[in-house]
Amino acid sequence: MKFFVDTADIDAIRELNDLNMLDGVTTNPSLILKSGRDILETTKAICDVVEGPVSAEVVAIDFDQMLKEGKHLATIAPNVCVKVPLTWEGLRVCKILSDEGTKVNVTLCFSANQALLAAKAGASFISPFIGRLDDMNIDGMELIQDIRTIYDNYDIKTEILAASIRTANHMKEAALIGADVATAPPKVIHDMIKHPLTQSGLDQFVKDAGEAGIKIA
Ligand code: G3P
Repeated sequence: MKFFVDTADIDAIRELNDLNMLDGVTTNPSLILKSGRDILETTKAICDVVEGPVSAEVVAIDFDQMLKEGKHLATIAPNVCVKVPLTWEGLRVCKILSDEGTKVNVTLCFSANQALLAAKAGASFISPFIGRLDDMNIDGMELIQDIRTIYDNYDIKTEILAASIRTANHMKEAALIGADVATAPPKVIHDMIKHPLTQSGLDQFVKDAGEAGIKIA
């Protein structure tokens, strides 16, 4: 499973990228707001660091303006992936940009039918939101599983990008199901390393090494 990081925080992106943990980045208007920076400048800065796809989201909801914004975002760098909402206008923009060779990530997906439509419109990525479904007591992972089954039934190439990931356990479950990509906040990626037995085992080794007076270099 590929790892994307869901943030516009350039320092966090750089840190994970240096460790080879990153296959791409996703942003959205809320993350841009949180960063306090301009979307065009931020997207360019991220694309300068990361080789893989960097999703930058349009803000217009009408077709003409959305297409204009999508085309503009695509000029920032060759690895920009234009993110559009799962609306008819978004799918129309998706079809045009995909036909022109721009990668498109269709976001705000909450049903398998929506994922089928996005694939038909030529989406490179479909972003089902796990956490927001879980918030409503609907199992977000079931949606990932349904889309996986449907896409595999027809050999659909659109990549399933599990989004709205809130916990390290979501990462494991998405990988078990076979999501192509998971995008998570930096904290969740960091949390994946945690295990109490690793920590207690290390504490014991450090204590014993001290008592034994072990010196290596
Ligand atoms: O990738 C989509 C993500 O940014 C939304 O996450 O936690 O706001 O539902 P969340």
